Amino acid sequence: MKTEGGSDAAKRRAGESAADLVVDGDVVGLGTGSTAAHAIRALGREVDAGLDVHGVPTSFDARRLAREAGVPLLALDEAMDAGGIDLAIDGADQVADGDLVKGGGAAHAREKVVDAAAARFVVVADPSKEADALSHPVPVELLPDALPTVEAALRAAGGEPALRTAERKDGPVVTDNGNLVVDCDFGRIDSPEALARTLSATPGVVEHGLFVALADEVHVGTADGVRVRE
Ligand code: 5RP
Repeated sequence: MKTEGGSDAAKRRAGESAADLVVDGDVVGLGTGSTAAHAIRALGREVDAGLDVHGVPTSFDARRLAREAGVPLLALDEAMDAGGIDLAIDGADQVADGDLVKGGGAAHAREKVVDAAAARFVVVADPSKEADALSHPVPVELLPDALPTVEAALRAAGGEPALRTAERKDGPVVTDNGNLVVDCDFGRIDSPEALARTLSATPGVVEHGLFVALADEVHVGTADGVRVRE
C-alpha cells in the first residue's frame, strides 16, 4: 500500500475517526490506500474487541489487509443480498468542494462501485489532499487495446495523458481488472461534472477517477485532531 504524501499520523487520525462511525451489524466498504488502511486496521481491532462487522474490499490490497486484520469479508453480491453497504470508508488523491480525484492506487473502478453503493460514503484524508479546485491528474482505467484511441480522445478533451508504469518492473501498471491506467492532466478542472460525463462517454474507458457529488462527509486528520466536513 502507498504510504507517501501527507503525514501518516494525520492519515491515521482520519482513518480511525471514520472507523469510529461503524456500529454493530454494519457492512462496510473498505477503501484502498494508506489512509483507508488505517481504518481497516482500526476495524480489525474493533472486531477483536467483539464488534460484529463485515467488510466489502475495493481491491486486492484492501482484501489482503482486511484478512490480515481479521475483518470478515463479503463479496459485493453477498453484501447487496444481505441488505446493502451501510458505510464506505475510502481515501482520495484530492478533495475540492466534496468532489474527489481518486485512483492513485489504480483501484478507482471498484472503489466507485462500492463507494456509490454505500448508504454513507466517508472520505478520509490528510490536509495535503485539500484544494480549492480539482487539478490533480485524473486516473483513467481503460481497455489495453483502446490505449491509442483513448489517449487521442483525452487530448481532444484538453488533457495530457501519461501511461502509468510500474515502479518495480518494466512495463505498465495493470489493474486488478486486467486493464491499463493513464493519468491525465487537465490542469484546473472548472467543471468536474462535465469532464466526468466526457470521460464516461469515451469508448474503451472502463472508469475514471473523478468522484463527483458522491461523498457524504470528509474526515481530515490534522496535527492534533480531525476536521469533519459535510
Ligand atoms: C486508490 C485511491 C486512494 O484512496 C488514493 O490514492 C489515496 O491514497 P492514500 O490514502 O495512500 O494517499 O484512490 O485507488
